[in-house]
Amino acid sequence: MSDHYAVVGNPIAHSLSPQIHHAFAAQTGEDLLYRKLLAPLDAFAECARTFFAEGGRGLNITLPFKLEARDLADQLTTRAAAAGAVNTLLCQEDGRLLGDNTDGAGLVADICRNLGWAIRDKQVLLIGAGGAARGALLSLLAEQPAHLHLANRTAAKAEQLADDFSHYSALSGGGLQGLRGRFDLVINASSASLDNALPALPEQLFTTGGKAYDMVYATGPTPFVHWARAQRVPASDGLGMLVGQAAESFYLWRGVYPQVAPVLTRLRRGLGKKNN
Ligand code: ATR
Repeated sequence: MSDHYAVVGNPIAHSLSPQIHHAFAAQTGEDLLYRKLLAPLDAFAECARTFFAEGGRGLNITLPFKLEARDLADQLTTRAAAAGAVNTLLCQEDGRLLGDNTDGAGLVADICRNLGWAIRDKQVLLIGAGGAARGALLSLLAEQPAHLHLANRTAAKAEQLADDFSHYSALSGGGLQGLRGRFDLVINASSASLDNALPALPEQLFTTGGKAYDMVYATGPTPFVHWARAQRVPASDGLGMLVGQAAESFYLWRGVYPQVAPVLTRLRRGLGKKNN
């Protein structure tokens, strides 16, 4: 019998995860079924427990349940503990739930492997200080940028986040207002694109050869991607990060690392996207 997996969220109808994981399964010959689970807003834990009680092997967790998934896990990986959020649950042999967070690894894999952009020794700016920024931080710092600056609309939140991670590496935090300097890589981890909005960013933010990455994806260019390209800065949205985090989850569950590039190419074509 096939092993069962699912992605749980609210809303969940538009999730591409089943398509991605079934493509990985076909590619690697793994026998699994992966479906979408809509959990009522007040019943995530119950929904997840029922899924595992019925023999489910693993879950992906998306908005707005990543914090509740952390609380449900019996054990956390280092990166999930650092992120303070869980996007992947694995039911272990003894029935205990392991919580992981593969978002940061998916982001770094997309930037470095798919896009071929460097992080090491670069000046990196991360916009935002919410769950998405926190989830990405450890993986970005592990790539050893020359410096990582966190800039958030509410300055105090970026300062606090920089403080929370100061034992990992030297990094700084501040507000979007008064943001100065030039960066080799600017990553938008704010949720502005979800509202079709652009964070209030200064002009001349990029070094020559600078790159822009939006962790959100959409069928067309996000406002941030559009803004960067208008300055002739190469820019990518977060579709590759979505496939990358899925690949990391797949590896945790199945012990096999799938090929990301062909799945990403097919998805992009399916969404009618010409490039990033
Ligand atoms: P997520 O889990 O997606 O990170 P979140 O934890 O609610 O969601 O955080 C949203 C982030 O996007 C915050 O950093 C928020 O800035 P504030 O802390 O000042 O609220 C940021 N954000 C949302 N809309 C934004 C906008 N229009 N411009 C700039 N930043 C925005």
